Amino acid sequence: MDLKTAYEPYFRIGVAISPLNLQNPAHCRLVQAEFNSFTCENDMKPMYFLDEKENLAHPEKYDTAPALSFRTATPYLEFAKKSGIAMRGHTLLWHHQTPVWFFHEGYDADKPLASRETMLARMENYIHGVLDFVQTGYPGIIYAWDVVNEAVGDDHQYRKSLWYDILGSDFITSAFTFARKYADPSVALFYNDYETSQEEKCNFIIHNILKPLMAEKLIDGMGLQSHLLMDHPDPERYRAALEQYGALGLQIHVTELDMHNADPSPESMHRLAERYQQFFRIYLDAKISGKANITSVTFWNLRDEDSWLTGFRKETSYPLLFQGDCKPKEAYEAVLRLGAEAR
Ligand code: GLA
Repeated sequence: MDLKTAYEPYFRIGVAISPLNLQNPAHCRLVQAEFNSFTCENDMKPMYFLDEKENLAHPEKYDTAPALSFRTATPYLEFAKKSGIAMRGHTLLWHHQTPVWFFHEGYDADKPLASRETMLARMENYIHGVLDFVQTGYPGIIYAWDVVNEAVGDDHQYRKSLWYDILGSDFITSAFTFARKYADPSVALFYNDYETSQEEKCNFIIHNILKPLMAEKLIDGMGLQSHLLMDHPDPERYRAALEQYGALGLQIHVTELDMHNADPSPESMHRLAERYQQFFRIYLDAKISGKANITSVTFWNLRDEDSWLTGFRKETSYPLLFQGDCKPKEAYEAVLRLGAEAR
């Protein structure tokens, strides 16, 4: 039994991968054996799609229709095609990993911010170009896109990003309108964010982002990043928020699951296994009871050694299901057993 088969009656099991994984045959074999979905950790973010060299060299030519590059995305699309694994597209609009020049007149960060009309045209042409490329060359491979990532700040209000400065909160509606216009009908459109079980943030997202988009039939799903700690969030709070999002009738994807844990002792890795099992129990309960239509759960990175958390938390993290030589950890056995028993 493997993860994707154990959970196949309920939801896809995915993983975020990097070029390092893609260039390592053992890592590719592990992805193919255990997962039926993957996400590019970085290579489909705006900074990689927007061709800096070309836009900056010919700003007039590309003023409203930015030059795009698919150089970093293509190897992942090829791997998906070859191995028959579906992909989550991540991410069309984000405040981070998006070049500042993109928001300025003449693609020049020293000039004023571009006008509302210019930014709407750039946004539409960018979304159109990206979707067209993947849907023409790799039809059916990307089953969901994170259209907007992290539009809510830590004050639980709209994040004051450059998108927000220029277009106000309707940058979100515009992005989903263009995504809906150009996405194949079978592609699901998602809003994705972190700390989504925090009560105020959950309410803000539901009332100010999801409900207005649902009223216009522009959104299909809510993405819960789920970068968890060993003692946060409380599982019952996480469950309550999951059910609140689920009650809207949207699909739910757990998009970036990991659990920061800096203690590799057997006792600590046992607690990690227990906590993973606790969260997968929540996912299965919600799915089976109909309280949340979870259709995909993605781990953020393949092995402990690949985890972004070590850099972000500034201490070595052991947050995942595999380690080193693609060796399964106790957490792998715990998650697998739960799924296999639920089939
Ligand atoms: C956020 C983003 C991801 C990734 C992680 C950190 O959660 O959505 O793309 O950058 O941060 O790796």
